[in-house]
Amino acid sequence: MLDPDRIRSRFPALREIGPTGLPVIHADAPGGTQAVDTAIEAIAGHLREGSANQHGAFAVSQRVDRLVARVRDQVAGFVGTEPDSVVFGPNMTTLTIHLARALEARIGPDDAIACTRLDHDANVSPWLTLAARTGATVRFIDLDPVSGRLDLGSLDAAIGPDTKLVTFPGASNALGTIVDPEPFVTAARAVGAWTFLDAVHLAPHAPIDRRAMGVDVLACSAYKFFGPHAGLLAADPALLADLAPDKLRPAPDTGPDRWQTGTASFEAIAGIGGALEYLDEVRMDAIVTHESDLTERFLSGVAPLRHVQLHGPAEATGRTPTFAVTLDGLTPTAVAEAFATHGINVWAGHYYALEPMRALGLLDAGGAVRIGFAHYHRTDDVDRVLEVLADLTR
Ligand SMILES: Cc1ncc(COP(=O)(O)O)c(C=O)c1O
Repeated sequence: MLDPDRIRSRFPALREIGPTGLPVIHADAPGGTQAVDTAIEAIAGHLREGSANQHGAFAVSQRVDRLVARVRDQVAGFVGTEPDSVVFGPNMTTLTIHLARALEARIGPDDAIACTRLDHDANVSPWLTLAARTGATVRFIDLDPVSGRLDLGSLDAAIGPDTKLVTFPGASNALGTIVDPEPFVTAARAVGAWTFLDAVHLAPHAPIDRRAMGVDVLACSAYKFFGPHAGLLAADPALLADLAPDKLRPAPDTGPDRWQTGTASFEAIAGIGGALEYLDEVRMDAIVTHESDLTERFLSGVAPLRHVQLHGPAEATGRTPTFAVTLDGLTPTAVAEAFATHGINVWAGHYYALEPMRALGLLDAGGAVRIGFAHYHRTDDVDRVLEVLADLTR
């Protein structure tokens, strides 16, 4: 069981008081979570104690070597991969574009790539660009706009013998839908295609295991799991070794460092280590249980509100506590502004989830309001959000 007050004391930014005299509710977790104290201290500690390039003859440099190796081990444990398959980068988008560029040599005009209508654009545009540069075809796996889940019936049409790459999300940053990787991995394996999982929205909400899931590559971002702005890519080491990423001549020719362009942000790597130390302590199963309480409370509170439409899964299972809603007679921006006057931070628009928003018919209508909780929220935070939603009728 999580102790909400103890949890909250670990997040200094959650102490902010809003315009009504109550603590601000940062209900924009899918846009980025607040940083935990161990991440903040690790970043500051690294800079305070001194930093240097890796692989030098002196002590500070060797400390940085040990830091990078230690955090690679931690990340490997967190996402279920081999330490030498962990690549650090500025964010998920940059790492994905980097990988897509490296795949250009392996994809041709007779090949196809499968994308989904549930993904954030960081798991769509890099593949559209790859296809445009190589002449490959992109086929989409459809989204059922009513259930907010991917239509597995469209898998067969989207994945065929020409498919070289199957991409899909771990969870939707717009609708909160959690995606079971199994059917995608099975369909990809049947035709010998690589799989790429966008684990950004899944990482703070559910356990991830790249090897157990059977995916070749996954990517996520530490600022979505209580750490600093930094990205992570984890891949089958054989695939990483086999591809030839863009790199400088003197940069390493082997190992994950071969994939890291320029000097890494060692302070961010230290911060990732701090965030993962915290997650080890709290335990993901406790997070899952607490978040499922938050989800049930929100769903049962929102259902009777006739002026509020929930987009995405209406059931508490197989989803994160991320909710897209629209309100009769109010634009999403007007709703977000009204929330802000109550000291509640929610996002309005499409949050780069172009495909799902288009599939739901919301893209040209200003998108939707996204209310996104994390494990550091309490049930009374959910109640405050519901009270504002209820009042927005009148
Ligand atoms: C599901 C999902 N994928 C990818 C991204 C892009 O991540 P980054 O900002 O690290 O590039 C985001 C960011 O919001 C996201 O929510």
